[in-house]
Order: sequence, then structure tokens, then C-alpha cells
Amino acid sequence: MMNKQYFKGSLFHTPTHGKLEFIKDALLTVDEQGIIETVLAPSDERYAAELDQAKATTQLVELLEGQYFLPGFIDLHVHAPQWPQAGVALDEPLATWLEKGTFPLEAKYADVDFAKEVYNDLVAHLLSLGTTTVLYFATIHHEASFALAEICGQKGQRGLVGKVVMDLEGANPDFYRDASAKTAIEATEKFILAVKELGKGVKQGIYPVVTPRFAPSCSAEALAGLGELAQKYDVHVQSHCSESQWAHDHVIERFGKRDTEVLNDFGLLHDKSVMAHCNFLNESDGDIYLETGTAVAHCPISNGYFANSVFPVKKFKEQGLEMGLGTDISGGYSPSLYDNIRQAVISSRMLEDGVDVNVALGNRGVTDSRISVVEAFSLATQGGGEALSLPIGVLKSGYACDLQVIDTKVVNHRIASFGVFEAPEEILQKILYLATKENIRQVWVQGNLVHDKNEGV
Ligand code: GUN
Ligand code: FE
Repeated sequence: MMNKQYFKGSLFHTPTHGKLEFIKDALLTVDEQGIIETVLAPSDERYAAELDQAKATTQLVELLEGQYFLPGFIDLHVHAPQWPQAGVALDEPLATWLEKGTFPLEAKYADVDFAKEVYNDLVAHLLSLGTTTVLYFATIHHEASFALAEICGQKGQRGLVGKVVMDLEGANPDFYRDASAKTAIEATEKFILAVKELGKGVKQGIYPVVTPRFAPSCSAEALAGLGELAQKYDVHVQSHCSESQWAHDHVIERFGKRDTEVLNDFGLLHDKSVMAHCNFLNESDGDIYLETGTAVAHCPISNGYFANSVFPVKKFKEQGLEMGLGTDISGGYSPSLYDNIRQAVISSRMLEDGVDVNVALGNRGVTDSRISVVEAFSLATQGGGEALSLPIGVLKSGYACDLQVIDTKVVNHRIASFGVFEAPEEILQKILYLATKENIRQVWVQGNLVHDKNEGV
């Protein structure tokens, strides 16, 4: 039987981008569906009465000193089939990397048993890292892609899963390609219907995603058909946009217009669209993102290897774009959004200062590009929720109760400031920079316990 739940402890979140809120000893009341009803501070009138009520139940999770609630992290860009490749093969440019390593690996997911082995491991691993919602690319295979959606459902992760489309002859290897635009579109429709059906029985939600790999791998017919499907079923869309110099130039050469314009003209950009990387966007591309409600999945670690550039987060946030973070497994080696928060900050600092000492200091970088670690935290939480148009990433009424319990007092993994740096923002900064997997004690998705470090859940 499901019951009302209560969570008591100090929490950090950013209700809006970059604006940190800390509530000491907050009391969250959560309904039977795992949705937050109220967030009370000790100064609230109802606090004492609600706490009494909570204590009379067995449904109260109460944190100890040195433990904190953070919102579950939202990863906007993961290639689930590339998990075996994480940490290797990062020395080639994008096109070679795809051809030599990535496509042969993804082709293996014709074998559903192999897929299940990898996907079970990946989903559990991401949950243990505090990642509660993931926007996944799977492969071109129906069974394996559907298995990923099922595994998310079983393990309690909010999964948005796309069966990849890549049909263009000559652009994709014959051993790993959709036979035609027609079959790719039909198979996507079948996948949408199957995952929608699956999602009906899953508390935290499982969603199908229309997923053209990127414009270079798809025929115009496929892109147009996928745009129509996205509209017909009002589902999420994901792809890569203007990721590297090669990908960006290639699209302009082939279509005579920019990647953003191509995706928009095929009906692929709307409020539930999330485009990965977007490194070569200009301001007018940004306007199209704004008008259509399309969001950016910023992948700072991956960009270090494949982007030939640093994505200017600050500039596009100021333009008003929706944006979150992606690990881009395995273009990025780390499945951890903590690592990506750190890299997002570091990359932005290098963009601002510049890197070549042979250029004069004032001309070396791009002024006003740095982001703070709190802003990067926003991208991994509130920004990700906004990008997906889902009520997640913020700890407030009406939002899903997706939580990480961070323990700063784990033996050999203490995050200590010895009484010197005790302001709430300092505590959060230290958690974001120093936390390891050992400090992530529990993870909850929509009120369900999905990871407990000490219990092996
Ligand atoms: N562009 C097309 N496919 C991919 C992929 O798998 N990873 C990355 N990073 N970029 C891509
Ligand atoms: Fe990618």
C-alpha cells in the first residue's frame, strides 16, 4: 500500500537558474504518487503539526547532522549502448570515432542479451551517482531499445528513450543502418506506441523520444517523417546539433543552411526538443531555439574531445535558452554529472581567460564567459527539468520527489571544513566539487528508494 511520505533534512536547490535556496531542517510532505505537496521550514506555522504527524508514521526519512538533500540530477544526453566504450577511444576526431569504434559497438545491440547486460549495469550505475532522470539514445534496434525502457521502469529511473534513426546510404555503414527512410519511420512509430504503453504502468514515467542521430546520418525523407511523428504524438525529440566543426560545416554544405535551420525546417524543434552540444550555434540559431522552446544539452567533458570549441553557456543563458547538462557517454568518459558540473565550470573559465599565452591577456579569451558552480548545479537540476518540460529538478510543491541524500561524514570520504567554511553556499560548493560516489548515501525517484549505498538497493 502506498502512503504519504515525509522527508526531513536540510536541502539545497535552485528554484530558478543560479539562484540558490537553502532550507535548514526542511520538512517535505509527499503524496501517494511521489509528488511533493509542501516544503516547510521550521518557521512555518504547520511545521510542528506536520512533523508530529510524520513521526506517528513509518514513512519519515530523517537526515542526520552532516547529511543534505539535493534534487536528483537530470542527464540530458547519454548514449546507453556506448557504456562499454566509456574511457577509451577518445583520440580520434568525431567522424573517425563514430566509424571506427562507435558504430561497430552499437551494432552489437542486435543481441538483446548483450543489451540487457549493459543496460542493467548502466542504469544502476547512474542511479548510484544521483542521476534520477536520463534522456537516452539507444540504438537502431527495437528490442534492445525497448529493453532499456523496461529496465529504467524496473529500476525506478525516469527514462526518456529514443530508438536511433540513421538511414542515409553512404553516411552509415551497411552493417548498422536503417534499411530505408520508410522502415525507419514505421519502426519509430511502433517504438513510440510501445513505450507509451509501457509508461502507463510506471510511477516515475517512461517516455519515447524521436531520435534522428544527427542530420548527417539521415535522409531528408527520414527527417521529415520524424518531424511529423513528433507532432502527431507530441513526444520528445533529441538529436545532435552543430557539435563539431566538421558536423557543422557538413550540414551547411549538404543542405545549404545551418544545422539549426535544417532541424527546424523538418519540424524537429519544439518545446520538448533537446539538442546535444550546439557548440557552433550563432545568435540567430539561438533565436530559433528560443522561439521553438528547444533546449541545449551541454556536454562539457565530451566537448573537450570532439567539439573543437567551448560552448558559451553564459552567452546563451543570457539570450534566454533552456539548457541542462549531459554526460554524453561515451563521447564524455564520465557517467557522473558531478564530474560534468566541475568541467562545465572549468571550461567556462578557460573560455573566459583564453589558453594561448602568445596572445595578449586582454585578447586571449571571451570576456564574461565564466559560470559559477551553483549555475552549473542549476543546469544539472532545474535546467534539465525545464529542458524536458517535466516538473522535476526543483524541490517544490507539484514537483516529483527526486532526491539524493549526501552524507559529508563518510569515513575516508569526509567533506569537512573544520568549522571554517560553514555558510550554506560553501557547504554546497564543497559537496559539488568533492563528493564521490561514497557520499551519495541514498537516491529517491518519485518517492521510491532506488539506491541505498549501505543496503545494496
Ligand atoms: N554525432 C553523431 N553521433 C554521435 C555520437 O554518438 N556521439 C557524439 N558525441 N556525437 C555524435
Ligand atoms: Fe552524443
